[in-house]
Amino acid sequence: MILAGGQGTRLRPLTLARAKPVVPLLNRPFLAYQLALLRAHGVSDVILACSYRVDDVRAALGDGAELGVRLRYVVEGEPLGTGGGVRNAADLVSGTLFVLNGDILTDADLSAMRALHESRGSRTTIYLQPVPDPRQYGLVETAADGRLRAFREKPTADEEITTNTINAGIYLIDAPLLQRIPRDRASSIEREFFPALIADGIPCYGWCPTAYWRDIGNPAAYRAAQIDMLHGRAAMPLSAPGRPRDGSWLAGGGSVAPDAQIVAPSVVGAGAMLGPRCRVGPGAVVGDGARIGPDARVEGSVLWERVDVGAGAVLQDCVVGADARIGAHAHVGPEVALESGAVVPERATLTR
Ligand code: GTP
Repeated sequence: MILAGGQGTRLRPLTLARAKPVVPLLNRPFLAYQLALLRAHGVSDVILACSYRVDDVRAALGDGAELGVRLRYVVEGEPLGTGGGVRNAADLVSGTLFVLNGDILTDADLSAMRALHESRGSRTTIYLQPVPDPRQYGLVETAADGRLRAFREKPTADEEITTNTINAGIYLIDAPLLQRIPRDRASSIEREFFPALIADGIPCYGWCPTAYWRDIGNPAAYRAAQIDMLHGRAAMPLSAPGRPRDGSWLAGGGSVAPDAQIVAPSVVGAGAMLGPRCRVGPGAVVGDGARIGPDARVEGSVLWERVDVGAGAVLQDCVVGADARIGAHAHVGPEVALESGAVVPERATLTR
């Protein structure tokens, strides 16, 4: 089951026009990578717990056939949070299920997680990730044998920071336990369900692999995840769409001027048009149908579909939503995130 119903407020303005679970990563909807990972570990039946902008999710993923999985959608009338969202779909599951936050990019070996769950007799296993600064996350304390001892959500006081392992947002849960979550009211799986399991002495374990892991929930992390993928730092079972060429991926169907440069690693989407003398890359993701004007430069930046970059414009380490227009000779600087449909005037300079 994938939790895919959050509003994604930290990823605004990108999530004003598209649900976070299907924002594009290297020109594929984000969840395509999670579904490929699940499939690589033998999971082919997936329930999406949805609420906010469910139509975006359906439009991007359909019934899952193209990705080799069967997708079912369960939609909340009112957002029920991470606990209520899982509970709302619990009648469709039995046995043991993976539950994933729909904003985690990882190449973790989920089969090894399942092996640990079974060998320990665990009833809920949580993927734990060490991070340098755990303050913005939920901390999880474990005993020496990996059994979960305590949860601390987003601690602020230094004395509360007792570990650097955080809840990585991927769980294995014995389905009957989900009946403990109250029906039809909002609740939090992290703040209510897990702590109650520990308090009641139910065996729950942490699993701490060495793997690529990133929460794509804010614009900087969303961009960085794609730079990581371009550089091969995540061993994903799904690559960017298109043919590999000289260290980049080109989907074709558009046009590339003879003197345009594509500097690897980059991704150029289907039907994109690259004008004379423009330079795309390194670290550029050009969306399907985008147009890069003459002499423009796009480096370290992610452009969604049909973005139009004017002549001589410079885009550096930024994210640009679908159908945005960047005026000629404008400059868009590091970590700027522009919403879909934005219009940047000629010669304007945008910085963060
Ligand atoms: P922020 O508003 O930026 O914190 O993002 P978010 O709304 O996605 O919240 P958060 O990152 O805490 O959510 C973790 C996961 O739970 C994400 O995959 C969300 O899509 C999902 N989620 C959050 N709230 C709900 C909800 O009310 N219903 C469902 N079905 N999923 C939710």
